[in-house]
Amino acid sequence: MDYLEIEPNGALNGTITVSGAKNAALPLMCAGLLTDDTLTLEGWPNLADTHSMNALLQSLNMSTAIDGDTLTLRANGAINPIAAYDLVRKMRASILVLGPLLARLGTAKVSLPGGCAIGSRPVDLHIMVMEKLGAHVRLEDGYVLADAKKGLSGNRITFPSISVGATENALMAASMAKGETTLLNPAREPEIIDLAECLIAMGAKIEGHGSGCISIQGVDTLHGARHKVIPDRIEAGSFAIAAAITQGALTLKNAHADHLDALLKALTQAGAKIKTDTTSINISMQNRPKAVNITTEPYPGFPTDLQAQFMTLMCIATGTSQISETIFENRFMHVPELMRMGADIRVSGGVAEVQGVEALTGAPVMATDLRASISLVLAGLVAAGRTTVGRVYHLDRGYDRLEEKLNACGARISRIKE
Ligand code: UD1
Repeated sequence: MDYLEIEPNGALNGTITVSGAKNAALPLMCAGLLTDDTLTLEGWPNLADTHSMNALLQSLNMSTAIDGDTLTLRANGAINPIAAYDLVRKMRASILVLGPLLARLGTAKVSLPGGCAIGSRPVDLHIMVMEKLGAHVRLEDGYVLADAKKGLSGNRITFPSISVGATENALMAASMAKGETTLLNPAREPEIIDLAECLIAMGAKIEGHGSGCISIQGVDTLHGARHKVIPDRIEAGSFAIAAAITQGALTLKNAHADHLDALLKALTQAGAKIKTDTTSINISMQNRPKAVNITTEPYPGFPTDLQAQFMTLMCIATGTSQISETIFENRFMHVPELMRMGADIRVSGGVAEVQGVEALTGAPVMATDLRASISLVLAGLVAAGRTTVGRVYHLDRGYDRLEEKLNACGARISRIKE
């Protein structure tokens, strides 16, 4: 298994171009199932997760071709309605094929994502959406079996709590349902807006995306389109924190500051200087950060996917900060690893209290999930001595050429092959 070896090397300075958003690309790829024409995605990020989705779509009989950062998808043959466990278990986002398969074929059999049981890591909202659209859904042998022999029908759907994935499945399925669908309390993330814009380019009739009420007028068929994936706000946010933690200055190109309001506000409170224009963010930091409290929330709140990275910054802040995680239980798995590097953190329920220390020290640490792994890399950039980050495959799920991008700005990160 590969691991990363990181030596501190002072401030990061330079320019980084942010890749296309993983979390936008994954649902966009699934939208290709809704038409027998070609869907072309530009700015497609080359990542373990997008390749896993590519393999899953190919197993459904979709033709796909990768040319640099352009992906073309075409589902013009006999589509296989079965998303098998072996491919689905690699990534929870695989559940996003459910809505498109059902809308296009009237039937779908999709494995529950790995270790996933209704109740603990649920897909109940995805299922609720399909049932509201008229599908008959049952669970059998670890699979979601859904049928809508006469096609899906529009309905009024109120989400009891906000779910990004369930909103995306709803958008895709309702685009081809009969009649009108209204989604109340949907997710408002930029990735939702990007998916809606792509569906509209494919002929869907959608209004209100990005607001608390989305209406969709179903159409019989969708056509092909060419769509550019939005920049990855989580990658951009992670690099902004890299600039702040090393007291450096980075210009992030292909970054939308308005997608990162909550983070940029917190970084400013911590002492960073931030300048933005429509496609770039310039961030610099000259002092040790000040402690700032954050609470993760659905967009436009502070993203849970940047919680671990911000916590790393707070580990070396002056003062004590409270980091509250409200989206996922058990999303503090990076805490014991940061503590091995000298961080002073106490967790109680969904709140971590971080007492800033003057410096972290390098240590061998283990990545536990995608965002936890980048938080350990950020810690390694400033920890005295050498840090090794194991299980780097977590990082490869969501960060495109991470070492190359950071090393070009002065970081010293090497990938060691075992
Ligand atoms: C997406 C992102 C992920 C991000 C998350 C929250 C992708 C591919 N992944 O994940 O990076 O961390 O949004 O911003 O876009 N829930 C239910 N029932 C369901 C579905 C979700 O209870 O059927 C719960 C989840 O357990 C979680 C919360 O709702 O506690 C939010 O999850 P959701 O927004 O659905 O996250 P994902 O779409 O899986």
